[in-house]
Amino acid sequence: MNILEVNGLVKHFPEVKAVDGVSFSIPAGSCFGLLGPNGAGKTTTIEVIEGIQKRTSGDILYKGARRGPSFRQEVGIQLQNTELPQFLTVRETLNFYRNLYDRRADLSWLIEICRLEEIMDRDNWKISGGQKQRLLLAIALANDPDLVFLDEPTTGLDPQARRHLWEIVRQIRIQGKTVVLTTHYMEEAQILCETIAIMDHGKIITMGEPEDLLAQYARGSTVVLRGLARDDALSGLQCSWDRLEDRVEIRTENVNECLRELIRNDVDLTAMTIRSQNLEDLFLMLTGHSLRG
Ligand SMILES: Nc1ncnc2c1ncn2[C@@H]1O[C@H](COP(=O)(O)OP(=O)(O)OP(=O)(O)O)[C@@H](O)[C@H]1O
Ligand SMILES: [Mg+2]
Repeated sequence: MNILEVNGLVKHFPEVKAVDGVSFSIPAGSCFGLLGPNGAGKTTTIEVIEGIQKRTSGDILYKGARRGPSFRQEVGIQLQNTELPQFLTVRETLNFYRNLYDRRADLSWLIEICRLEEIMDRDNWKISGGQKQRLLLAIALANDPDLVFLDEPTTGLDPQARRHLWEIVRQIRIQGKTVVLTTHYMEEAQILCETIAIMDHGKIITMGEPEDLLAQYARGSTVVLRGLARDDALSGLQCSWDRLEDRVEIRTENVNECLRELIRNDVDLTAMTIRSQNLEDLFLMLTGHSLRG
């Protein structure tokens, strides 16, 4: 069963078509990832679904029907930016949010899963960025939701805290909940999501299982050259390449042949690296620009 179905969703602001005809469906119990660069329309898409913003047009079905009063009770939301009441403790904050709902998550489960034991009696203004993310996640889970929206839950976290958050998401999944998340990190989407949709300029440019997308679009290798000043050294190259801020990336299905060509063109290979293609390359290939920066 699909817990969520979105059809032809449009949200236009006076100057921007933030969401421009987006459709997808999400099976209950799965994790769905929306990926895209700044301004792609990820937050607007999920805020329209959440009911925080009004849509311009399109259909949204929750558990097969239009969103009714039960939707608010059964959905958990972690916004991209949230301010917490500064002088409440973590415990008071959590209780406040739990008390807004008829259905409540078990407090000790929330504390354990989001690892809040040590900070329960600390004021919100004293907690670190990573701790705040965990508290925000606990708030999103306060009503024991069936469907959880996480808008960039790991942005700004250090690598260890990010891994920790991934573990929490896995634990939520074990409870049978459905997760919708947005991220700039392809790696994160690949690890957490069954399905990812890659957005750019308000549209989904491709969607599918990470492994399928890779098999379909990104079978080869990427040769990365730093410090290459002249593009003409790459003229006549059989493979496609892009110049990014500090490097040139060449995509090839035949590394040997590519290297032979570079050597023929007298390109300095001292600072070269080669890696297999990942979803970041896929994004670059589909949009002509990189996911970040
Ligand atoms: N309330 C608003 N009024 C006008 N334009 C808006 C509004 N909210 C968002 N936009 C514009 O809509 C576009 C999509 O914004 P959105 O926040 O959905 O992107 P995003 O993919 O979440 O980006 P980020 O990765 O930076 O969070 C942007 O061009 C943004 O400036
Ligand atoms: Mg956003």
